[in-house]
Amino acid sequence: MNDARLDFDRYDRIRPIRWTGDSLELLDQRKLPFVVEYVACTGSAAVAEAIHALTVRGAPAIGIAAAWGVVLAARDVQADSGAEAALKLEPAMQQLNAARPTAVNLAWALARMRNVLGGAGPDWRDVLTREAQSIADEDLAANRRMGELGAALIAPGSDVMTHCNTGSLATAGFGTALGVIRAGVAQGRIAKVYAGETRPWLQGARLTAWELQQDGIAPTLVADAAAAHLMKTGAVDWVIVGADRICANGDTANKIGTYSLAIAARHHGVKFMVVAPSSTVDMATPSGDAIHIEERDPGEMFAIGGVRTAAPDIAAWNPVFDVTPAELIDAIVTEKGVIERPDQAKMQAAFSA
Ligand code: MRU
Repeated sequence: MNDARLDFDRYDRIRPIRWTGDSLELLDQRKLPFVVEYVACTGSAAVAEAIHALTVRGAPAIGIAAAWGVVLAARDVQADSGAEAALKLEPAMQQLNAARPTAVNLAWALARMRNVLGGAGPDWRDVLTREAQSIADEDLAANRRMGELGAALIAPGSDVMTHCNTGSLATAGFGTALGVIRAGVAQGRIAKVYAGETRPWLQGARLTAWELQQDGIAPTLVADAAAAHLMKTGAVDWVIVGADRICANGDTANKIGTYSLAIAARHHGVKFMVVAPSSTVDMATPSGDAIHIEERDPGEMFAIGGVRTAAPDIAAWNPVFDVTPAELIDAIVTEKGVIERPDQAKMQAAFSA
């Protein structure tokens, strides 16, 4: 095992969000892994649409994209002070905030942009640009720290399973759960990585598998429905996932299917780790019951890659997140530290201001 500090620059060269100084370039995640192509957004409405359409996705990444969306919106605003600009930017901020409902990182990033405007003078545009860059830089730093903290929980030679995509593609870089996996592999703690397909949008099959390959890590893909059986065979020591919102009692929203994994993990004695920056913690939401779970177009379930896979003329229900209760989580890892067996008191101690 190699516990020396990671040479982070060796990893995760993928960057899903690029600010050119003039436009926001987003790596189009609808087309990966077959087409690697950036789309340029030159206005905040285009950024909101890109977030809604999943061109950019993953909780931290949509917060970062929204922050740059505010910088773009600022170009259409004339104001002498940050306070005046804040009023004029509010419609654009609301449009960005409405793009997706479940990941709190979106509202969190917009709140940061709003807050810095409060005290800004005539240079408020520069203040906004610096804040958007800070949000991105802090996310990358948090992911690297979480990688080290999370990997330290994993015994050498462990096999792990992950769900959805929580890597560089979903963040400013390195990733949350996938960051822990990157660090764990680099340190020799993780021997084998299973990636769940993540139906219906296939974030696991299309994005996580591709992203790990870029780092020379060979993932083993499993159908979502195979996860409980995999755990029963004893092939997995940890399930490691990200989060879209962590509530005040530790309940955690993440990609649909996460809850099933947590139930199966507990039943089979497999440990369950949630990895997310503190920007994903929402102490204002008391429990998972209060989270708005996004339901997307059922059409996402009828076809793969444009080829229809379902019988014609049927209905479908397409919730894209679920809530894992805190009692099924062994560890929540943020950049601030590790909370084992989370509950309201431990969350309060770690995150109340
Ligand atoms: O619908 P998506 O692809 O945006 O869902 C993403 C997830 O659920 C991730 O697990 C979560 O955002 C954490 S990403 C670091």
